[in-house]
Amino acid sequence: MKKILVIIGTRPEAIKLFPVVHALRDHPEFECVVCTTGQHREMVDEVLDFVGVVPDYRLDAMRAGQSLDKLTARLTTLIGPVIDKVAPDWVIVQGDTTSAFCGALSAYYRRIRVCHVEAGLRTGDIYGPWPEEANRKMIATMAALHCAPTEGAADNLRSEGVAQEAIHVTGNTVVDALIWTRRRLEENPATASELLGINHRFTGRKVVIATCHRRETRGRGMREIAEILTRIAQRSDTLIVFPLHPDPGVQAFFSSRLGGVDNVVLIKPLPYHRFIGLLMLSNLILTDSGGIQEEAAFLEIPTLVLRQKTERVEGLRTGLAKLMDMQLDDTFAAINSILDQKVESEAANFGSTLYGDGSAGKHIVKLLLECHEVIRVKSSFIPTP
Ligand code: UD1
Ligand code: UDP
Repeated sequence: MKKILVIIGTRPEAIKLFPVVHALRDHPEFECVVCTTGQHREMVDEVLDFVGVVPDYRLDAMRAGQSLDKLTARLTTLIGPVIDKVAPDWVIVQGDTTSAFCGALSAYYRRIRVCHVEAGLRTGDIYGPWPEEANRKMIATMAALHCAPTEGAADNLRSEGVAQEAIHVTGNTVVDALIWTRRRLEENPATASELLGINHRFTGRKVVIATCHRRETRGRGMREIAEILTRIAQRSDTLIVFPLHPDPGVQAFFSSRLGGVDNVVLIKPLPYHRFIGLLMLSNLILTDSGGIQEEAAFLEIPTLVLRQKTERVEGLRTGLAKLMDMQLDDTFAAINSILDQKVESEAANFGSTLYGDGSAGKHIVKLLLECHEVIRVKSSFIPTP
């Protein structure tokens, strides 16, 4: 029996790791222990409730407005003792948040193997996204098993000198999560349509979803986004739905700029399954989120990425996603041309496997089994305490 400790910090980690937790729990060879760091609280609890995962450890790292220093210090101090208590064979972290970085660091300090889910995403700019690009590079130096979502991500790792045998292309677990959730929505359509009482406003209109939370977007980026949304809102055939991230700075900025603007609905973050229900109704997405770019690709919904650079380059290559690296007038023209297309795109399509085919969770669990054996045979693969 192998013991696996799964560290979950923020909403996207809960979404992208529940398929791995489900697959581990279904496998008789594994004992799976889940630790939430509390970097995000309500948003993580909501996801885990919906997917039936009860954390074994719940840490309390969230403080309003805390600096990255304080967050990092708090997280390492809290996670270390959990690793000591659980004494796992592997620690799993996902992506590039500060929780993922601190989880990997605390495991590495104890010479415990780290499995990195969604490994190898890079923009090549350590300030975009910030601090995520540096976090994921630092995790890569500590990980023993790198689960790359795409061939491109695997290439990035190879070019940084990561050993070939430690890199595996698994697909992104975001697709597993989406397929699992869509199935629940199909079984119970009422859950999807209860979009906080606003769905009656969608009738006959184009639906644009906006989300924005990245630290490097603050300031000029957010001002430009508010400007674009104000201009789109002048279209009476369009409704903009904007779930505001609970970050107090993000809430205050967009509430002051967009509160009360006709055709813009500012709402609290939606529970994950309802957000997927909303995505499936939408005609266009404007987002600086990483995960939403991947979900939009799977659902084949046009996406304007509210960033200068993205690590999700596969979406750009298909032309379905575009970067907002143009003048505001050109951006607005691009948006209008999408919204003026016939309403055919209203029903989301399913099937773009750009980022995964829905089997990543199972694949990762299989790798953990196989790697365990390899490591036992090749003791030089990773130092054991
Ligand atoms: C964090 C991650 C980012 C990830 C994003 C996903 C870091 C440095 N940033 O950014 O990589 O893309 O999460 O959303 O790891 N808050 C609540 N309730 C919640 C969640 C957040 O009140 O459930 C508030 C708190 O005041 C918190 C603030 O939002 O301090 C910001 O959260 P934080 O984790 O610091 O950064 P994010 O911008 O969310
Ligand atoms: N999401 C959600 N409710 C919302 C908005 C987003 O559940 O109101 C989900 C979305 O489906 C995606 C994830 O949150 O899987 C993206 O999280 P976020 O944008 O916070 O982080 P990122 O992906 O940029 O790290």
